[in-house]
Amino acid sequence: MSSDARRSTALKAHAAPPLTGRIRVPGDKSISHRALMLGALAIGETTIEGLLEGGDVLATAAAMRAFGASVVQRSPGSWTVRGLGVGGFLEPEDIIDFGNAGTGVRLAMGLVGSQAIAATFTGDASLLRRPMGRILDPLRRMGVQVIARSKDRLPLTIKGPDVPLPIEYRLPVPSAQVKSAVLLAGLNTPGTTTIIEPVRSRDHTERMLAAFGAAIEIDQNDEGDRLIRIEGRRDLKPQSIVVPGDPSSAAFPIVAALLVPGSDITIEAVLLNPMRTGLIETLIEMGGDIAIENRRTVGGETVGDIRVRASRLKGVVVPAARAPAMIDEYPVLAIAAAFAEGQTVMEGLNELRVKESDRIAAVAAGLAANGISFEEGPESLAVTGGGDSIGGGTVSTALDHRIAMSFLVLGLAAGKPVTIDDAAPIATSFPEFRALMTGLGAHFEDVEENDA
Ligand code: S3P
Repeated sequence: MSSDARRSTALKAHAAPPLTGRIRVPGDKSISHRALMLGALAIGETTIEGLLEGGDVLATAAAMRAFGASVVQRSPGSWTVRGLGVGGFLEPEDIIDFGNAGTGVRLAMGLVGSQAIAATFTGDASLLRRPMGRILDPLRRMGVQVIARSKDRLPLTIKGPDVPLPIEYRLPVPSAQVKSAVLLAGLNTPGTTTIIEPVRSRDHTERMLAAFGAAIEIDQNDEGDRLIRIEGRRDLKPQSIVVPGDPSSAAFPIVAALLVPGSDITIEAVLLNPMRTGLIETLIEMGGDIAIENRRTVGGETVGDIRVRASRLKGVVVPAARAPAMIDEYPVLAIAAAFAEGQTVMEGLNELRVKESDRIAAVAAGLAANGISFEEGPESLAVTGGGDSIGGGTVSTALDHRIAMSFLVLGLAAGKPVTIDDAAPIATSFPEFRALMTGLGAHFEDVEENDA
């Protein structure tokens, strides 16, 4: 082992006093990626306020620069993008490294897919394990050439055709990333590209494309599937975008405040798009005291302040149909469930197996390490709450920011402290997590360990 051992990034969360105060969480990650990408295609200057400056979004900013767009931070959270026009990307000189960012790389592959340039993408150990075939299959049908490792994993090279073919594509998985990659490829494809979406997923791409002036139409077929049509080769008009707070980041202080007795917090200006509020719905069903105040519309999205007071929770069955609206929130819901009376059953979780980590396995391992009872199925997780003396374990975060933050929340509410082996992944989506939670009253401790 190396003698110049680095300091570990292990972090311990201790039982917290009542959490109180008002905070703002950073900008929504999904909207931040899309704002940079559409800004890079519009002719003229797009301004973005409240951009998430986490590792994932910064990787997208760097990628847009590598394609030739000007992407500049004016002041913290405030960015401008000068775009190149639809179809105007330049061939990047180097490999594009998306780090941990699945959304970034998948949407960028869609962007490149309809431009006659080649680009090579890679990422961190987590991203290299994640399936890319779900994006590459429709792109191949549009005429894209792909050179990839077997099983369609990164690193891989994409080369768009001179004239991409418009396709009609029925989504085989309820994934906003797949839908968005095809729609973005459709932007520079002559004719009409059609998505058939049998199960709804987050719709930020559709909303933002319409705002940028794309020729996009949405309706339904007789079977009730959502049909999204985009006519390509139209100019996009630059926009002024205000990014609302990320509900997937707000999830952590929300659950912490419900669980730590005596807490009363408000999180301001959080995105309340109905495809993102599944966790709030579930927590209210569990008996959580959560009130939405000051509901308003900002840039075509509903936003509100979320007031949360500590509550006694009871277990519920979370229907599989709710999964797309709370897909990233199951890890922290499992923590809430560990304190609820009775069992909380989560179904339809198959997509969790292919997130930044296998989230069913990572949550199960963390629950086991902290003495919490659960049953793991191939596509489900059932957590039994109310056990005594939980906590005290060390959790492997597996390069997954949401696993890291979820188990720190466990430590704030449990009788015994909880340690995560690596807090570094938190910076991909919520760099301010520790400071904001500490401001509410939480207590974290760096664990001094050398890895030598
Ligand atoms: C995202 C879509 C979701 C989500 C991810 C962000 C997006 O993934 O898990 O964190 O911004 O489109 P899938 O669309 O693959 O479910």
